[in-house]
Amino acid sequence: MTIRTLETAEVLRRADEIARIYQRAFGYSDERRDHFRDTRIAYLPLYDGALALGAFDDGALVGFVYGFDYQPEHWWPQQVGPALDRAGHTAWTHDAFELNELEILPEHQGQGLGTALLRALFTRAPQRHTLLSTTADPADRAKVLYRRLGFVDLVPGFRYAGIGEPANIMGRRRAA
Ligand SMILES: CC(C)(COP(=O)(O)OP(=O)(O)OC[C@H]1O[C@@H](n2cnc3c(N)ncnc32)[C@H](O)[C@@H]1OP(=O)(O)O)[C@@H](O)C(=O)NCCC(=O)NCCS
Repeated sequence: MTIRTLETAEVLRRADEIARIYQRAFGYSDERRDHFRDTRIAYLPLYDGALALGAFDDGALVGFVYGFDYQPEHWWPQQVGPALDRAGHTAWTHDAFELNELEILPEHQGQGLGTALLRALFTRAPQRHTLLSTTADPADRAKVLYRRLGFVDLVPGFRYAGIGEPANIMGRRRAA
């Protein structure tokens, strides 16, 4: 198993592979996979501080993580920023990395790859804070992983406009 940075050109070249991992990790439709590839992946190079890492097994990409600078004018900060402010967590949005996606192919889950990708990300992202959104479902196993790596709940029960299911906004602060 190898963990390494994916430069922007490689992310774009591997857009189909990355979108397929996203689809399989969540069990999404082909339509949702293609939308992810044509919007989220295609636009990644436009974001300041974009950072992507891949997990490889025998040369094959089996998982990835990516994100970029947390910038107030972006979609996600517009959604969660006011709730973080209201909860007294404004400081977490300064010098922060927006962790957008972390997915491992189902047959490679539970082997430490998600942990390894996150640890590698923390060593490469220069920001003090890392922010992410996960589900508020107590049975969501990703939360166990995030907590183990130092993430804390910042806004549990957060609600995105127009989306029924509550989310959990979590953050990790690098030791000073
Ligand atoms: C969440 C995910 C990235 C974790 O990656 P991973 O390589 O399986 O994780 P690791 O092997 O490093 O760590 C295992 C821990 O991750 C958590 N975990 C979450 N989902 C898991 C899964 N489907 N299989 C195994 N472990 C999972 C558990 O806490 C597990 O610890 P445990 O064995 O003590 O319960 C991966 O399972 C995945 O892609 N899941 C589907 C997509 C997803 O939920 N992404 C996160 C969105 S916020």
